[in-house]
Amino acid sequence: MPHKYNNIPPGIKSKIGRDLFLQENNHPLATLKRRIETFFAQGYIPGSTFFKCFDRLPQVVSVQQNFDDLLTPKDHPSRQLSDTYYVNDKMLLRCHMTAHQTTLLKEGHTAFLMVGDVYRRDEVDATHYPVFHQMDGVRVWDRYELPPTIQADLEKGNRDSAVVFVMDDLKLHLSALVKDLFGSDIELRWVETTFPFTEPSLELEIYWEGQWLEVLGCGMIRDEILKNCEKSNTIGWAFGIGLERIAMVLHDIPDIRLFWTDDNRFMKQFQVQSDKPVKFVPYSKHPACYKDISFWLPSEDSETTNFHDNDFFSLAREAAGDLVESIQLIDSFVHPKTRRKSVCYRILYRSMDRNLTNAEVDEIQDRIKASVVSSIVGSELR
Ligand code: PHE
Repeated sequence: MPHKYNNIPPGIKSKIGRDLFLQENNHPLATLKRRIETFFAQGYIPGSTFFKCFDRLPQVVSVQQNFDDLLTPKDHPSRQLSDTYYVNDKMLLRCHMTAHQTTLLKEGHTAFLMVGDVYRRDEVDATHYPVFHQMDGVRVWDRYELPPTIQADLEKGNRDSAVVFVMDDLKLHLSALVKDLFGSDIELRWVETTFPFTEPSLELEIYWEGQWLEVLGCGMIRDEILKNCEKSNTIGWAFGIGLERIAMVLHDIPDIRLFWTDDNRFMKQFQVQSDKPVKFVPYSKHPACYKDISFWLPSEDSETTNFHDNDFFSLAREAAGDLVESIQLIDSFVHPKTRRKSVCYRILYRSMDRNLTNAEVDEIQDRIKASVVSSIVGSELR
C-alpha cells in the first residue's frame, strides 16, 4: 500500500539513477559539473583550500535533513505535498542539495561540494523540469583560524567583522567562478534575498542577452545551524547553483527537456573539443499543437479545495512524458451559485525529435482526461 503521503509517480522514480551529471560522454551537465569541481579543486583563488566533491549522495533524505535542520519554517510552501515529492511523512526526494549540508558538517568536513539531481513539483515550460541538478558548496572556519582582529571582535560578542570576512570570501569565490564559466567580461550584480538557512543571503545575477538572470543563491550559514551540528565555534558560507540554468545559457540550449533526450543529434554536438563552450544548433523545430482541457474541481467550495496546479502538471507529465512542452492555466472561475471552481489548461505538445501525429496527441489528451477523473477525486470534466 502506498503511504498516504507518497506522491512520487513512476515517471519520476524512473529518473532516479539516470545520473546525467556523471556520464562520461560529454553530456553538458557532466562537463559543467567537472568544470566547477576543477575550479574549486585547483585553488583558483590564491590561498584558497581544496574542496572535496560529493557526487553520490542518496536522493532520498529525511524531512529533518531537507527542511528542519536548515531552519525552514513549518509553514514554508516548499514543504507542502504540492511542491515536494514525499516517500512518506518522514522521507522525501531532496528538493535541493543543501539537504546534505548538516550531515557533512557533522562528519567534520570544512570545504566541500555536493552535486546531484534534485526533485520539485513545478510548472511545465521550457525552463522547468521536475528533476534538475544542483551544485552546492560549503566553506567553514574554526574561529581560531580567523585573523586575530576578527577573533578579538568575536570574543567581545561583535560579529560584524566576521560577517564581512565570510561574505567577502564567498563573493570572491563565486564571482571568480562565474567569470571562469562565462568569460571575464561578463557583467555581474549581487542582489539581497532571503533563505531560511543563510543570513545575510545574496543572489548572483549575470547580464545576459539584455536581461539580468539569476544564476545562484548563497549566504553566511546561520549560527543556529552550525550550533546544532556541534560547531558553535565555527562560521562559514554556503551556495547553491542550478546546473541546467547555467548550461542552457552557456550552450544556447532552448529547452530543458533536451538534457534527457536520446536523440543523437543533441549529444553529438557536444563531442568536439574546444576551449569555448559549444553553441547548440537546434535541429529543425517540429510543429507544436495545443489542446485545452477544462474541469470542475472536487470541492463544492472553491476556498476549501486542496487541489494545486502542480497536481495537474504532474499528472499531465506522467501521461505525456516529454511530449508536453508547456502548460498554462488559461482560465478559472467560480460558479456564482454553487461556489464550485472550474479550471482550463492549455497543453502545448511538441516532440524535440520528430513530428507528432494528430491521433497520437488525441490519445495522450484522452489519457490525461482519464487521469484527471481517476486521480483528482470528485473532479468532473466539462
Ligand atoms: N538551496 C537553495 C536553492 O535551492 C540555494 C542555496 C544554497 C542558497 C545554499 C543559499 C545557500 O535555491
